Amino acid sequence: MHHFQYRNGNLYCEEVKISDIAEEVVTPFYLYSYATLSRHFTVFDEAFSKLPHIVCFSVKSNSNISILRIFGKLGGGADVVSGGELYRALKANIEPKKIVFSGVGKSRSEIEFALKTGVLMFNVESEGEMMVLNACASTLNVRAPLSFRVNPDVDPKTHPYIVTGLKENKFGVESSDALRLYLLAKDLPHIEIIGIDCHIGSQVTELEPFVDALTQLKRLVFELKNKGIELKYVDLGGGLGITYDREEPPHPNIYAQAIVSHLEGLNYTLILEPGRVIVGNAGILVTKVLYTKRHLEKNFIIVDAGMNDLVRPSLYGSYHTIQPVEKRDREMIVADVVGPICESGDFFAKDRVLPDVKSGELLAIMSAGAYGFTMASNYNTRPRPPEILVKEDKFFIIRERENYQDLVRGESIPQFLL
Ligand code: LLP
Repeated sequence: MHHFQYRNGNLYCEEVKISDIAEEVVTPFYLYSYATLSRHFTVFDEAFSKLPHIVCFSVKSNSNISILRIFGKLGGGADVVSGGELYRALKANIEPKKIVFSGVGKSRSEIEFALKTGVLMFNVESEGEMMVLNACASTLNVRAPLSFRVNPDVDPKTHPYIVTGLKENKFGVESSDALRLYLLAKDLPHIEIIGIDCHIGSQVTELEPFVDALTQLKRLVFELKNKGIELKYVDLGGGLGITYDREEPPHPNIYAQAIVSHLEGLNYTLILEPGRVIVGNAGILVTKVLYTKRHLEKNFIIVDAGMNDLVRPSLYGSYHTIQPVEKRDREMIVADVVGPICESGDFFAKDRVLPDVKSGELLAIMSAGAYGFTMASNYNTRPRPPEILVKEDKFFIIRERENYQDLVRGESIPQFLL
């Protein structure tokens, strides 16, 4: 069941007519479907039911506390990459023992915060980080649970900005160096080796790169075993893609089957860090048409959302379906959908065939649940938009729009300018 659907020409989210929300909440706003979020999580989680596993939702894809709570209540954990994300995960009541701390540049204070929290493990990405982790753990007189993020050098065939597991990428330790690092870690008094990790990229729509990466991890796991290092956790990262346009990514069940068959009977707990596949198609950005312009060469639809609200099209050239919230009989035109920001890169679609919408009409920018709000900024001193969660026939504001005071909070004027 798809939860963003037209009924009599009106787009609904679950049982709520989106235009009704726009009567009460000023556009632009993010809108999420609770039913979709929980179904996506559950389908993903159940796909791995044959193995001991933890689904650590990748907080960077959508960090709203209410949304994290949905997954926490369904038994999920969190993959965090900063002290801020850890703080959010805790606010969402995610159990510390289900939180993995990833990221190539963890600071000392972030490491200390995570050690005090008692997270499940640190996915360590360099020798230097391992030493700092050991030192911080020593100060606190604890042992830090470590896994190395290994760079498997497989090509996930996705956008170059979101490929992470190639040799030339900054992520992880080289797989040829992993054994040496594990042996070093073994001798550190405040490190407890517990796992191995990788993450190859995002919006991956084929199975093969995942299986290749897992095969490499397994080879290392056995090598380590031979050296007397027993691991408990194998973390395969996130990355499973979704349909934005015509992509045909494997269903989570197929993805899980391919992975489970490699790990069955081996006695490891599998960790997964999905983000996009859970939230991407569970959220949209609703925006209003401000103006339309016909130039000699181009039609422009100027909307009230900008690249500061949803940067993916500007940053990656990503495709997002755009559809009217109220369908009417209209001629189709070819137009660019653009925002109010003072940059030519501020667009949501280029040369897109769309109905000839008029000023005041609402548009839905689809598949905006992942890396939408979390990448929003205040560029052009625009308040970030509200986030709304729909459950059945009710909607809840789970984050208010920022106001002008929020935008200047923390700024101060030095004496000589007073
Ligand atoms: N784990 C790690 C270590 C990651 O770096 C990422 C994403 C994930 C898990 C979750 O990946 P997912 O399941 O969402 O593909 N802003 C870009 C995507 C950047 C992904 C960065 N890492 C976009 O909007 O497409």
